[in-house]
Amino acid sequence: MLNTFQQAPHAALPKATADEAARQEFAKSFKGFIQSTLLPGLTPVYQGRAARSFEKQHGRPPVDRRDIRAAMVPDPYFQHYAAANRIAQELLWESVIGSVDRQLPELLESAKALSASASAALEIPEGFEPPRYVTALDIHCMPGGYCTQVCADDIAVGALYDRGVYLYAMGYTGPDNDDMGRSVVNYVKRNMPDFKPRRILDMGCTVGHSTLPYKELFPDAEVWGIDVGAPVVRYAHARAAAMGQDVNFAQMNAENTTFPDGHFDLVVSHILLHETSGKAMPRIFEEAYRVLAPGGLMIHADLPPFDLMDPFTQFILDNETWYNNEPFWGAMRDLDQVALAERAGFARADVRFDTAPMAVMEFAAAADGYSQEASEHVAEREFTAGEFAPGGGWEVLIARKPAKTAMAA
Ligand SMILES: C[S@@+](CC[C@H](N)C(=O)[O-])C[C@H]1O[C@@H](n2cnc3c(N)ncnc32)[C@H](O)[C@@H]1O
Repeated sequence: MLNTFQQAPHAALPKATADEAARQEFAKSFKGFIQSTLLPGLTPVYQGRAARSFEKQHGRPPVDRRDIRAAMVPDPYFQHYAAANRIAQELLWESVIGSVDRQLPELLESAKALSASASAALEIPEGFEPPRYVTALDIHCMPGGYCTQVCADDIAVGALYDRGVYLYAMGYTGPDNDDMGRSVVNYVKRNMPDFKPRRILDMGCTVGHSTLPYKELFPDAEVWGIDVGAPVVRYAHARAAAMGQDVNFAQMNAENTTFPDGHFDLVVSHILLHETSGKAMPRIFEEAYRVLAPGGLMIHADLPPFDLMDPFTQFILDNETWYNNEPFWGAMRDLDQVALAERAGFARADVRFDTAPMAVMEFAAAADGYSQEASEHVAEREFTAGEFAPGGGWEVLIARKPAKTAMAA
């Protein structure tokens, strides 16, 4: 059982009183209960009655996720599940907001002091406008989203995200909330042992959870995290300093960065793409291609495309689009990402999907008293395309820029 991690404290993280901690633990456990107890009940409800009433009504069985949704939405069990899920989501943020508000003056002060102690860059340009697809609604119901600032040097939504996402993931992303980044770096190190990136860019870094493992595991590299939200970037810089990591952060749009052509050897993102838009995603691929040096790698970790999974799983995942303020969640999974990468300049033969085994699985196997050999086995086991965390690995889209571009040749 992986859900045993407690979040590791650091100097920028809000501290919880006993009451706040109890409320937060309840929010996390409630989510866990829904996942482990209510969610599995959807399959028998679908097979036992919802699919049959759909067939009776339409004269044919449901065939795709839209049909399955039409069959399930009128069912009281599904309504109960969907409502509980939404309540749990709102509750988890609420359980953290009071805690952040209570200690905001101290959190602002400590973030400022931590940032001032860092030698790495923090760039927040004047007059930067975040894109509307980020500001138009509170994505995954997080009040204030990633960009809201109500005072000078605000970091509140960064602090809210740091603690809230730990509860959201129910501990599955490890004590430092960094499993995605750690898993992708492990994947790169295992599969491309000769690849030694000198400069690394993490697009859509939020508070730097996934960014820091790149510096930890490639200590000689210059690492940058960029995000459109000023408060999350400020918090990321303070958090990195608190954790003793020399990582640069900037408020910047991944569609159009200020980095020179060919500047990076590795451009990564982690669950960024599904929070963008149909217009932004191709631009992000083009920008990644532009800032990559010849031979460099672009890796986007996100949930897998719909065509890699069965319609019932598609239906389950697509509930995020309908009930969790994730408007691009489903649409992004229908896009042909390999074709998008090709349009951005990558050769089709150099683009593929794979699964990066979750680093916490290896950690848990080791912590459970398994031998080193057994925990390595977890890392080496064959993952099925379409498998997704928790329980498996992170889906990664990998594209390599040709070693010599037409311009460079
Ligand atoms: C789900 S969070 C990413 C989490 C983070 N990568 C991690 O691993 O912890 C998505 C982030 O992408 C950012 N974002 C969305 N569109 C962006 C863009 N065009 N350029 C840069 N950041 C963007 C949002 O502000 C948000 O912080």
